[in-house]
Amino acid sequence: MLKITFLNDNRCSSKNLECEHGLSILIEDNDKKVLFDAGQTDIFIKNACRLGIDLNDVETIILSHGDYDHGNGLQFFSKKVNLICHPDFMKDRISRRTGNFDGLNQNKEAINSKFNLIETKIPYNISDNIIFLGEIERIMNFEKRNNLPMLDENGNIYEHFDDSGVAIKTEKGIVVISGCAHSGICNTVEYAKKVAKDNRVLSVIGGFHLKENDIQTLKTIEYMKSSGVKSIILAHCTSDIVCQEFLNRLPEITSLAEVGKIFSF
Ligand SMILES: [Fe+2]
Ligand SMILES: [Fe+2]
Repeated sequence: MLKITFLNDNRCSSKNLECEHGLSILIEDNDKKVLFDAGQTDIFIKNACRLGIDLNDVETIILSHGDYDHGNGLQFFSKKVNLICHPDFMKDRISRRTGNFDGLNQNKEAINSKFNLIETKIPYNISDNIIFLGEIERIMNFEKRNNLPMLDENGNIYEHFDDSGVAIKTEKGIVVISGCAHSGICNTVEYAKKVAKDNRVLSVIGGFHLKENDIQTLKTIEYMKSSGVKSIILAHCTSDIVCQEFLNRLPEITSLAEVGKIFSF
């Protein structure tokens, strides 16, 4: 059985758990425990503790991309495990909205000594079922350069090529998890289908980085519908307005994530 637990997310309704702008998801596939992102702080560890989850069994961490709200929490993880990410994860990035540095607060040497760092642009098999996608092919015109929230060190749009995700194979199709989907959530799903060699999409989970009820959002909803996606779990950088639009248009398959929620497949 595949179990997905939200250890950190932007949303939380439980008084016993904490949340922040960030994402951290625990993937449990039979006896395999993989952490997908670590949020900004140690909230994922505190919440795991309160949920009775032992993170000492985690063997691998996937870093979806090198943004602070997904990777700064890594400094609080004390066990030396594999850390899998795209080679561009340390590239400088500045928020267009705030002008702040939005990369990681540890340098590469610190991360290298703390973890067994595995950097890959090509897909990487973590187990028979769990595949880190590496660099995602960008094929959808409507997702081109839209919503890219940061600038590089030269003041140009930061393309976020380090943005990746994971495909998990199940008997009923693939489960796709994205961090922020800066590559485009439809691109991410298409690439996951190709890499996992399965066109059946059981669930799409994570941050979609959609903020407005615009053409991209409407085309994304249409894509999910026409692709026969069986469930959508919206998290993190998917705005309330966009979540409501998914709930209105795809009510039978849309759920909202929040800290502490568990989804089984
Ligand atoms: Fe994010
Ligand atoms: Fe991001």
